[in-house]
Amino acid sequence: MLFEIAASNAYMSDNEKFLLSLCAASLPQGSVVVEIGAFLGGSAHIMLLASAGRIVLHSVDIEDKIPNDLRSHRNFTFHLGTGAAVASREALEVDMLFVDGDHSFRGIREDILAFWPQLRDGALVVAHDVLNMQHLGVRIFVETLLGNGNLTKPVHADTMVAARVDKRVALPAASDYVRTARKLSQVFGRPRSWIAEGVAPAVLLSKAYVDMPPPAEDLFLVGKGKRGDFVHRFLGLDYHAPIDSWEARRTDARYYVCSAFFPRIFTHLVWDVRVAPENIFDVTPQVISRWMLQDILNNKAKRLLNAYQVECERELVSGLLNLLSESEVYRMYENGFLCDLFLYLTASFPPQATI
Ligand SMILES: C[S@@+](CC[C@H](N)C(=O)[O-])C[C@H]1O[C@@H](n2cnc3c(N)ncnc32)[C@H](O)[C@@H]1O
Repeated sequence: MLFEIAASNAYMSDNEKFLLSLCAASLPQGSVVVEIGAFLGGSAHIMLLASAGRIVLHSVDIEDKIPNDLRSHRNFTFHLGTGAAVASREALEVDMLFVDGDHSFRGIREDILAFWPQLRDGALVVAHDVLNMQHLGVRIFVETLLGNGNLTKPVHADTMVAARVDKRVALPAASDYVRTARKLSQVFGRPRSWIAEGVAPAVLLSKAYVDMPPPAEDLFLVGKGKRGDFVHRFLGLDYHAPIDSWEARRTDARYYVCSAFFPRIFTHLVWDVRVAPENIFDVTPQVISRWMLQDILNNKAKRLLNAYQVECERELVSGLLNLLSESEVYRMYENGFLCDLFLYLTASFPPQATI
């Protein structure tokens, strides 16, 4: 079993596979498990294998990619929809909830809170991608439940956390999420490479500096990943959606490249599309974080607040900004957390282009 679990195609590390297996294996006969985010069924396979037929598993996904052998397993049911939608149409008494679906703050919050009333007191909640900075929304949400006492006795393996539900504790208020985000910024703001390398940030930033452009018809964002998506909302460029570099046609336009593949895209734009090099801009995370700083300090974070459309995200952003002093915002900018936080707050699975 050990080797079969390690070899499964679940999207997680070996340590995480083993923690998930132990959680499933610890459940008594007839336990009900809900999985949000089934993908190709790798994690579902692990839980069924480890529990040796004792659990009934309900897997939820917004897309159906379940292989036939899993679909026909007698202890397995697949539900198409978001976690929140499925929770509203099923009435289950859940002993373990495994969450690996929407990785944005809004998404995981909606999905878990929708299942909360169906969780038994003392049930297990296992969440993936909590302990990294790529999925800050997930992290803020789960750490708040832990800090607030809704989840207790956490055990972790790599980025995964397993904990017990305490139903007696009231669910967090918006200000509790804000406090977690602030604490994370103090603890996990990490030196960007230019600081770690001992390069004076001012020197590097001045080189990397790109002015924040006003919306214009001849301006295109290149890069459909998280970075392009965020910049699109932040700059309010409603008329052009971000494009891929191969979609660029206009020689006379300006291209703001929101991608880690800048050198390759630059070459393509210059040589194949015939764009003048001075009309191609590298919108690096450092550039974005400088724009954010400008927006917060000079513009009362209007752009940032516009970038988030969902109430709970706006509550988090404005709550956080109300709480922080100017010097704290500046520190968050310098240590890179400002960029991570706002860029990744809405980050969902699947991760699109590398940012
Ligand atoms: C990281 S994958 C899951 C991987 C899987 N748990 C495994 O380890 O094999 C995330 C999945 O969540 C699905 N998803 C995204 N948002 C969702 C939501 N709100 N509810 C349910 N599934 C969602 C995606 O379609 C994707 O298949």
